[in-house]
Amino acid sequence: MYDKNPTLEGIGNKTIDDSKQGDVFYQEQMKSDVKGKKFYIESYGCAMNFSDSEIVASILNDIGYVPTKIAEESDLILINTCSIREKAEDTVRRRLHTFNKLKKKRPGTLIGVLGCMAERLKAKLLDQEKLVDLVVGPDAYRDLPKLVSTATDGEKGINVILSREETYADISPMRLDSNGVSGYISITRGCDNMCSFCVVPFTRGRERSRNAFSIVAEANDLLEKGYKEVTLLGQNVDSYKWENPETKDVVSFAQLLVMVAEVHPSMRVRFSTSHPKDITDEVLFAIRDHKNICNYIHLPVQSGSSRILELMNRTYTREWYIKKIDRINEVIPECAVSADIITGFCTETEEDHEETLSIIQYSNFIISYMFYYSERPGTLAARKYEDDIPLEVKKRRLSDVIRVQAQVAFAHNKADLGKTFEVLIEGDSKKSDQDFKGRNSQSKMVIFPKKEGLKPGDYVMVKIDAVTSATLKGKIV
Ligand code: 5AD
Ligand code: SF4
Repeated sequence: MYDKNPTLEGIGNKTIDDSKQGDVFYQEQMKSDVKGKKFYIESYGCAMNFSDSEIVASILNDIGYVPTKIAEESDLILINTCSIREKAEDTVRRRLHTFNKLKKKRPGTLIGVLGCMAERLKAKLLDQEKLVDLVVGPDAYRDLPKLVSTATDGEKGINVILSREETYADISPMRLDSNGVSGYISITRGCDNMCSFCVVPFTRGRERSRNAFSIVAEANDLLEKGYKEVTLLGQNVDSYKWENPETKDVVSFAQLLVMVAEVHPSMRVRFSTSHPKDITDEVLFAIRDHKNICNYIHLPVQSGSSRILELMNRTYTREWYIKKIDRINEVIPECAVSADIITGFCTETEEDHEETLSIIQYSNFIISYMFYYSERPGTLAARKYEDDIPLEVKKRRLSDVIRVQAQVAFAHNKADLGKTFEVLIEGDSKKSDQDFKGRNSQSKMVIFPKKEGLKPGDYVMVKIDAVTSATLKGKIV
């Protein structure tokens, strides 16, 4: 069992060995060199990347760099990249060309690529494409001060070594672009699943879980700063498993969820992403038994066809997924579920596609993140299967999926007409500064007219009187 009231002993006060002392001296030295210099960071891809950018910002801030939102005035331009689909990489390349134009006007500016593309393309970005001065993989951010210094001296800075241990547990992220209400906390890094379409196990390395007490400490820190919601992040949160090196007690994901939920009842807890093969009843019970653990599970299905799921190496069948949905509905009837879906995976037939459409309907997803298959070099699928579905077919199937998902979401939202939800205010609605936007426990976006005295971070009760497939609208009651 874990200690419900963990002390934070041992966190942040590790003894410094000789090599670390060298680092400390080096960092002090750098501080005077870079004092007042500015960095600009742009992030692409998953929430994990945005969360990593906050770690990077903290590391750079420690050596004297200050953040700016204006690329034109920065001394160091960084792009935290995503390799999950070809399109994402194309976008980053275009941005790198734009930044190189800026660099011509402002020589001395350094440009760096961080994250998955750095890991996948490695020295190619430096040597062949000559687009950047720095290439830093997702496990090498602690090395940034040295790499920046190397690049400042005119050498190329590269570190793409993946680690089996790095979790950045002791680094307090510098919250960027935050609404001051919701914050992310990374709980695992990497992925051991090897879904055949996915490049993540190659770019982010082996899965490792972060010290549970450091996670609780970060949630406490967010609470003290006025945050009202934390989202625990990992490629597969259900496989979170941390062994306390002193007591040998093992903390599971369900136990971690409860530890974070107990930080404060007014602090909402969310998590992403769950894997259908790993989510346990204990996680469902934790959601059911704690009001502040939100009634929402992101449970990517990817395909509704057992044959395709096997080729995808997802290690569950259509029937297994359906049973999980049934179990969620049984334990937490109010729970909303969302998914990721890929159309046009290798050998997918119209029958397989129909099965995907029907599982969307069965599962009643409130939202799906939908993509057509994009072959990624080095993945299991790229090595074993032919990418044989024509692009027009992939796209047509994607539009079918989008259409059916919108119908399902609209019906789900219509069932909320007349209901009253507790909503956490996040800020002004996109369309009007007369309205607030916020989310209910199910993670549905709710728009409602402002009332005096209320501000982001407050909870309000909102009665729903209109819906679309994407939002609920209502009035404060
Ligand atoms: N092509 C299309 N979509 C992909 N995803 C991952 N790899 C690919 C790929 N090669 C999608 C999956 C995953 C989400 C993060 O991105 O649906 O769950
Ligand atoms: Fe990729 Fe599968 Fe791991 Fe998700 S669970 S990151 S899809 S390999």
